[in-house]
Amino acid sequence: MTYHFPSFLVDLDAVLEHGFDLLTKAVRLRSAPMHTPVVSTIGRDGRPRARVVVLRAFDRDRRQLRFHTDIRSDKFHELHVDPRIAITFYDAEEKIQLRIEGRATLHQNDESANAAWASSQPISKLCYAVEPGPGNPIGARDDFYLPRDREESETGRAYFAAVIVAIDGMDFLWLGAAGNRRALYKFGDYQFDARWVVP
Ligand SMILES: Cc1cc2nc3c(=O)[nH]c(=O)nc-3n(C[C@H](O)[C@H](O)[C@H](O)COP(=O)(O)O)c2cc1C
Repeated sequence: MTYHFPSFLVDLDAVLEHGFDLLTKAVRLRSAPMHTPVVSTIGRDGRPRARVVVLRAFDRDRRQLRFHTDIRSDKFHELHVDPRIAITFYDAEEKIQLRIEGRATLHQNDESANAAWASSQPISKLCYAVEPGPGNPIGARDDFYLPRDREESETGRAYFAAVIVAIDGMDFLWLGAAGNRRALYKFGDYQFDARWVVP
């Protein structure tokens, strides 16, 4: 049987570019598996906390990611206390897992937040108008208000935040029938380190 290795697996630069290509594609393609990664934070009691978000932007040159959230959510408070964050992506067809580590900055009322809000669809904006805020206990299953009318979509702006993640490192894993490959990348202001490691 002949096994096939994708051509990008031959060198560390090509692997990095391929990983970044997947993230770029995942922003614009809603059906891409990497469009909805798992974001992990450190809970206020020190426990790991993880949840799915939508990947809204990836800046390859600045090595930054962006997602959006409600300022009343747990993750927003957790990142306020400790900005360290991990984001996990998996594409089954590509057989690739990407694990990104970084630091989050929270943007509520600056230019980044305004631009992120302006680029959001009315249907996405409506989620931020929910009352009471996410995670609040309620007496009955539908005891909350979520507006359906697009005219009300601006109401949620007060609770909207853009979370921008500065990427410190990426762990790339390809698990294929031909054999596995894993590469680690570290990014700093004055350093770049790339190496193969045992998968
Ligand atoms: C497909 C999908 C996409 C989601 N996208 C987001 C998102 O972009 N931002 C967000 O804050 N929550 C998003 N959520 C909801 C979160 O997974 C989570 O349930 C919610 O934000 C509360 O998380 P927290 O209490 O840990 O802050 C999404 C959930 C799913 C299933």
